[in-house]
Amino acid sequence: KEAKLWGGRFEESVTDAVERFTESISYDKQLYKHDIMGSIAHASMLAHQGLISASDRDSIIDGLNEIERRIENGEFNWRTDREDVHMNIEAALTDMIGEPAKKLHTARSRNDQVLTDFRLWCRDAIDKILKSMKHLQVSLVTLALKNKDLIVPGYTHLQRAQPVLLPHLLLAYVEEIERDAGRLVDCRARMNFCPLGACALAGTGLPIDRFMTSDALGFTAPLRNSIDAVSDRDFVLEFLSANAITAVHLSRLGEEWVLWASEEFGFITPSDSVSTGSSIMPQKKNPDPMELVRGKSARVIGDLVTLLTLCKGLPQAYNRDLQEDKEPVFDSVKTILGMLEVSAEFALNITYNQERIQKALPAGHLDATTLADYLVKKGVPFRTSHDIVGRSVALCTSKNCQLLDLGLDELRSINAVFDEDVYEFLGVENSIKKFSSYGSTGSACVASQLDYWVKKLETN
Ligand code: ARG
Repeated sequence: KEAKLWGGRFEESVTDAVERFTESISYDKQLYKHDIMGSIAHASMLAHQGLISASDRDSIIDGLNEIERRIENGEFNWRTDREDVHMNIEAALTDMIGEPAKKLHTARSRNDQVLTDFRLWCRDAIDKILKSMKHLQVSLVTLALKNKDLIVPGYTHLQRAQPVLLPHLLLAYVEEIERDAGRLVDCRARMNFCPLGACALAGTGLPIDRFMTSDALGFTAPLRNSIDAVSDRDFVLEFLSANAITAVHLSRLGEEWVLWASEEFGFITPSDSVSTGSSIMPQKKNPDPMELVRGKSARVIGDLVTLLTLCKGLPQAYNRDLQEDKEPVFDSVKTILGMLEVSAEFALNITYNQERIQKALPAGHLDATTLADYLVKKGVPFRTSHDIVGRSVALCTSKNCQLLDLGLDELRSINAVFDEDVYEFLGVENSIKKFSSYGSTGSACVASQLDYWVKKLETN
């Protein structure tokens, strides 16, 4: 067995079970790019500070670049007995260049190293997610533009409520994703501080320059407190919280599309390219991708809960428990990226069934609130008008008709204030025309919302 990098004081080698149980290479090898970046910045700083020679620095950097090349070409031998990504790369560097490699870990611990890698990795992950979020927003806006004037039932309690323009509904999701993106941007800014040089927990007496490595790696500044730098994981907790909120939003979108694709609603038809079938029922065409968007949100929420539970009650500073922080983060990122991608693809492959929607609109008295507003405009106090329209609806129910089918005499029998102009307020088309408040579903309001998003998504 090869001696461990930390093996000096040990008289026995660890058992196979311990080796298997404590390794993290099986998953933290994903950090290799950032580990190498961090090591190159560290070696450059060590040379600049006179802690290693320029020629040692050069052979370290050349060696690390060669290791990166080998990893990317699948020529690198990842070894479980070398525990994690950091020791795999350092040991391979030693195999390759000998003596100079032994100087790389000067004024560094795996504790600050792993966090440097992890923050760099998360920073890149956030950038990827932001891109994917924008793509989903663009896809939703595209879908909205294709169905600009389509009126659909709006629901509360999943009961017919008021008519809305479809773009209005779709833009609600665009707004949610915009805030999700904003949370990631905030989180990225708070995350972007450099742990490197905090060493195990206490810093070092060697003359390092933490500002130099921080700059080289594109961080805003070094973290101020070395104990904090190696022990806290709030940057990933915040990241996973943001992902969990995004996942909840996407699960709602998924639910809506699953529901609308059902025979009962029948409002949308997803294309075959985004549907799957049944192994037994030949007629089936299921909206599985969006069911899985709904389902996978569970993992993203679970990942956050795992990490919160992991960190709860840990004493300062680094504890090996913290090695368990990687998998939930990798899982959360991979899952959320998949959810965003497939939601965008679904959006681009939906047809709204105009006829079916048209047939649905008359039911449920979607124009009742507009009618109440009509009475308010005539000077009736809202509570009274609510009651008058309520009684008009009851009359419709008994006659099995819509509000616009009631004759003026019938309406007047309920209250004399009704006039001929009432029919301009009835029916969903008329009703939509009456909405005018900022942010409402009125055509002009929705058109300006659409305009806002088209411009915003083009320019950023
Ligand atoms: N693989 C470890 C982790 O992910 C690296 C840090 C190990 N530090 C230590 N003192 N054993 O947390």
